[in-house]
Amino acid sequence: MTQELSTTAPEHLPRQRGDWWRDAVIYQVYVRSFADSDGDGIGDLRGIRERLPHLAGLGVDAVWITPFYASPQADGGYDVADYRAVDPLFGKLSDADDLVREAHRLGLRVIVDIVPNHTSDQHPWFLAALAGGPERAYYHFRPGKGANGELPPNDWESVFGGPAWTRAAVPDGDGGTSQPEAGGEWYLHLFAPEQPDLNWEHPAVSEEFASVLRFWLDLGVDGFRIDVAHGMVKADGMPDIGLREQAKMIGAQVLPFFDQDGVHEIHRSWRRLLDGYEGERIGVAEAWAPTAERLALYVRPDEMHQAFNFQFLRCPWDPDRMREVIDASLAATASVGAPTTWVLSNHDVVRHPTRYGDGPAGLRRARAAALLMLALPGSAYIYQGEELGLPEVTDLPDEVRQDPSFFRAEGQDGFRDGCRVPIPWTRSGSSHGFGSAGSWLPQPDSWGELSVEAQTGVPGSTLELYRAALAVRREHPGLGAGDAVTWLDAPEGVLALARDGFLCTTNTTGTEVELPVPGTVLLSSGAPGFGDGTVRLPADSSTWWAI
Ligand code: GLC
Repeated sequence: MTQELSTTAPEHLPRQRGDWWRDAVIYQVYVRSFADSDGDGIGDLRGIRERLPHLAGLGVDAVWITPFYASPQADGGYDVADYRAVDPLFGKLSDADDLVREAHRLGLRVIVDIVPNHTSDQHPWFLAALAGGPERAYYHFRPGKGANGELPPNDWESVFGGPAWTRAAVPDGDGGTSQPEAGGEWYLHLFAPEQPDLNWEHPAVSEEFASVLRFWLDLGVDGFRIDVAHGMVKADGMPDIGLREQAKMIGAQVLPFFDQDGVHEIHRSWRRLLDGYEGERIGVAEAWAPTAERLALYVRPDEMHQAFNFQFLRCPWDPDRMREVIDASLAATASVGAPTTWVLSNHDVVRHPTRYGDGPAGLRRARAAALLMLALPGSAYIYQGEELGLPEVTDLPDEVRQDPSFFRAEGQDGFRDGCRVPIPWTRSGSSHGFGSAGSWLPQPDSWGELSVEAQTGVPGSTLELYRAALAVRREHPGLGAGDAVTWLDAPEGVLALARDGFLCTTNTTGTEVELPVPGTVLLSSGAPGFGDGTVRLPADSSTWWAI
């Protein structure tokens, strides 16, 4: 049975300001896995520069590059030993400079990742701290509990599993240390032991980060993605939580180590710093907050420009839940005058075609979700390979895994190597064009057919769908503008959201749904069938209409 779409006129949604980031489509490059220019099996900065035409051709506005700084790579570069140097694995400082310049020449902005919650345990500060220098105060060292200090100072758990504390050796006063067992203090690491948390109460820490931000802004970057932006401040007294499996509570409740009110002062100071630069340099908070309202605090007018909307990423393929999350996200960010950001995948989560159900249905839904996301007001993030419809790689052998959470977790799922497999550029050849000497994680053989080469020019391919969607979004700037959508009445399981002169219908059901033709098709993730004044929306598909 067909129900009619309501004819309520969509609201006019004026663009609030001309700021580029409000509706920008930003492409995430996971540097190790994008393109390898020197044949060591690991992606690098020159590889990214050589592939920038792909991003310009795709039609994105900006590229966010995950950390490429000097690092022992205990957590894929999120353990930084020198914030002003490029790791030799990824190139030289001049490669970063060339990359930024070439991106700008192609009309792409560049956002780099900054990791302020923790350093590497090989950072000179931490080495000096272990040796008993004044840098000890830049981290969180505490005596242990128990008769001999043999128990961690509190019950906090690492996000990667196990206790969030490691016992350090006792400094011997000569710049050396004794063995850890010999009664040393414990240091806090909310992630791996190789990532000691910084003490943001110490002024040297904030001064150093302001200087690091300036270093990269002076080099010409357009902004920062702020890693663990909700983590820098810990609750006074570091109280016990009293519950196990704390990683599962992240983003569901406020924990004494995350989303503390004090972090906002840091974001305010960084906003002042960003605003002091020419051009619109932005900050994007990777903040896990329990509600859309608490997340909105990070994007108040004097704080960051954007925050990732993980509630949308976490939402299952369920029309009611999706609508609820979209409305709640829009309302929360509108309340502070910020744009909402939409994200479906990144380097920390299972790729969304697999999350939505493996096989053909998962891919159909992923394509439909992409059109739904790109029809929403605000900014959208695309994770490399998403435009190819890549699934999660679920059968990596243990011996190739590198994610620290794989080695630390007990019975947790969600290991992150499966979404980090290098992306395929060509049908055949070594690592499908990723590089000349294989890839640090093996690609499935079937990925040749998902490569950029195999999908280019093929009507209906996922790559051409993304290209077309981004082209339509550019032609209709109203698409990313505004801060609300109008939902039209639609048959069960169909979402129909209207913007100014535009409609997106998403059939979330596993069967075809028939509707009166609502307008002229601009683009579809399926192949709608037309009858006498009616359209049959294919299962798990989105269609864009001019109305
Ligand atoms: C963020 C990053 C993740 C990293 C963690 C610790 O969540 O996205 O990849 O492991 O921070 O830096």
